Amino acid sequence: MANTILVGAQWGDEGKGKIIDVLTEDADIVVRYAGGNNAGHTVFIGKQKYVLHLVPSGILRKNKLCVIGNGVVIDPVGLVDEIKGLRKLGVQVGDNLIVSETAHLVLPYHRELDAQREVLKGKNKIGTTKRGIGPAYGDKAARVGLRMIDLVNPERFEEKLRLRIKENNEVLRALGAKPLSFKQVHAEYRAAGNCLKPFVANTVVLLHQAMRRGDNILFEGAQGTFLDIDHGTYPFVTSSNTTAGGASTGSGVAPNKMDEVVGVMKAYTTRVGEGPLPTENAEIADLLHGMGREFGATTGRARRCGWFDSVATRHATMVNGIDEIAVTNLDGLDTVETIKVCVAYRHGKARYDFVPNDAQTLAECEPVYVEFAGWRTPTDKARKWKDLPAKARAYLKAIAESTGAKLAIVSVGPSRDQTIFV
Ligand code: IMP
Repeated sequence: MANTILVGAQWGDEGKGKIIDVLTEDADIVVRYAGGNNAGHTVFIGKQKYVLHLVPSGILRKNKLCVIGNGVVIDPVGLVDEIKGLRKLGVQVGDNLIVSETAHLVLPYHRELDAQREVLKGKNKIGTTKRGIGPAYGDKAARVGLRMIDLVNPERFEEKLRLRIKENNEVLRALGAKPLSFKQVHAEYRAAGNCLKPFVANTVVLLHQAMRRGDNILFEGAQGTFLDIDHGTYPFVTSSNTTAGGASTGSGVAPNKMDEVVGVMKAYTTRVGEGPLPTENAEIADLLHGMGREFGATTGRARRCGWFDSVATRHATMVNGIDEIAVTNLDGLDTVETIKVCVAYRHGKARYDFVPNDAQTLAECEPVYVEFAGWRTPTDKARKWKDLPAKARAYLKAIAESTGAKLAIVSVGPSRDQTIFV
């Protein structure tokens, strides 16, 4: 499989966790390259559900090396809890997990600032996961962040943390929030640092050694294309490069060492948090929520739902260089009589066949739809392309064609075996 980047082609929650798990079979190494514990990748193995936030999904398979790359922001206490939770479920986490020493830390003042800024924004809030992601990447860009390499060096960690808490407490006080206790934060994060020390290494050198050995690497994207800090619906985005370019900067593996990009997309569209979603539709939201689907893996929030938006997925194909697509949640549409697909946007007299950069303009866009007859047959038991109803195949072919990439995988349920290779 060589080096493959897997990205979300919509607004996150595309079902990347399951597709990564399926593709991991052919990989030697799985690398997370962006985001933090705002992500929630759900994988079912048999009846057991695993939700991963920072640890790459490859951890669920034996003999796979999992790497948390330099582009990720890590809440050390969150990571320790996640490792403990996985071990409780019988998952081995030891020398199969390596954490970049240059990954930045998410600390309690980042979470506090995230929450306070959302309150200040009022009706213009982003609807963040409140995990401190924006403030942590902000500190990274401002060159005042603490990194894993600091966390595992006790004297340096104490000195830097003291300064950062002093400054951030001034800001928190000005915002009317409670200041943090250095003593408490230091004790908690030092303990987490001790637990994580054995995992911390120079992941760039390690990945290049592995490539020289001929290992295959799967780069596990988090969130989705339209949550990318550069290419998303700014400011309603996360604070990292979730798109394919982020795999290089977030891991230290150069673009010319990447072989393939797989884009994951749902057979419809969802989004959590605020910001434009042109195809949003109450009917499909009620249907999916009524089926117990489309609730966030990290925050439990009900996701906003809409029809498939091929303007967005075409744009995602362009900015990520998507070669192949994986369409998930096809079974979510099994009962729908008429399925709509957005093929362009109308804004006043203008017609867009790409995603306009201004979030306000996008929010005002009206979707131009084409309609497909629903197949109205359960697809969850289909295991081969020809097991799918003809109308479902026609729908899949049409959305792949409108997206401009090759249809490679169709997922009809959460389990590994509910996967069709086209
Ligand atoms: P933040 O990443 O917590 O700052 O949140 C910024 C925006 O990205 C919000 O709209 C979140 O709902 C969204 N977001 C962040 N992580 C995820 C994810 O893993 N899936 C879907 N949406 C996400």
